[in-house]
Amino acid sequence: MTPATMQVMRVAGHLGAEVQGVDLSRPMTAAVVEAIRAALEEHQVLFFRAQRLDHAQQVAFAAQFGRLLARARPQSGGELDAFPQVWTISPEADEAAWGFDHEEHYRSRQRQGIGGWHTDLSDAVNPPAASVLRADVLPSHGGDTQWTSLTAAYEGLPPELQRFVDGLQAEHSFFAAYDMNPHDERDKAILDVVGEPRAALHPVVRVLPASGRKALFINPARVRRIVNLTPAESRHLLELLFQEVTRPEYTVRWRWEVGDVAIWDNRSTAHVGVGDYAHLGQPRIMHRVTLHGEKPIGPGGFVSRALAGSTLDPCPA
Ligand code: SIN
Repeated sequence: MTPATMQVMRVAGHLGAEVQGVDLSRPMTAAVVEAIRAALEEHQVLFFRAQRLDHAQQVAFAAQFGRLLARARPQSGGELDAFPQVWTISPEADEAAWGFDHEEHYRSRQRQGIGGWHTDLSDAVNPPAASVLRADVLPSHGGDTQWTSLTAAYEGLPPELQRFVDGLQAEHSFFAAYDMNPHDERDKAILDVVGEPRAALHPVVRVLPASGRKALFINPARVRRIVNLTPAESRHLLELLFQEVTRPEYTVRWRWEVGDVAIWDNRSTAHVGVGDYAHLGQPRIMHRVTLHGEKPIGPGGFVSRALAGSTLDPCPA
């Protein structure tokens, strides 16, 4: 049951709700944690305005929903040294650490325009169950984030196609949608930083553990191919499925204000940071933490398998 002070308001047709009446900076009662968990299950991504958390508060908030992972890539300096769970997304931090903006660079290597849509760390055999992102510094305009509902995408398919994709598996790897050239200086710098090249075989359709609903567990950034099909068959089928998961009607777009927090179900959604602010030359600083997840399971019982790299283990407390 939703506590009396908490309001949950839908913001798009298939996913996304804004939650009001909760202060994320303080420990929450079990009833509020449960209400947020239930709202997340139902709405897949939740938005909280004007929370203005610091790293410790973001970590403490997220830890009420599960064990946290260490950040996906090396970062250090300042407060980050004390918070191995926090990954800062910032062109300026990239510039300071590496001499150029990594994300903007590898975005330029995308083979297709929708290639930025991803599910966090789906190259791992056990991608995070959920992610929590907060807006610290924003450009004057632009820099929104969009999410899409992978359950809506599955449920929108005709039953014949649902039955066909129910039995398939896809290979995921970090740079599946990018033309990264190890002989190019900048590409190589990024490949070196991203580190261990993970790859995993996941069911194309994932059965969600709590609800039993099915999600079309593919995303344009990380899916390399559908196995047991020819390259041409895989390419054509993926083109169709990527079109489905990025259909505008299955998405929600959040216009960030400084201090906002979003938490999303990373099992049943994909998202993209809208790259429309680089030309403004203004900073955008976001901080993300991710929650430990299990291996996806398909409708026929197929359990995801690692093809390369290790599982994502919780960060030691
Ligand atoms: C992410 O991809 O997890 C972050 C998205 C964003 O920066 O908007």
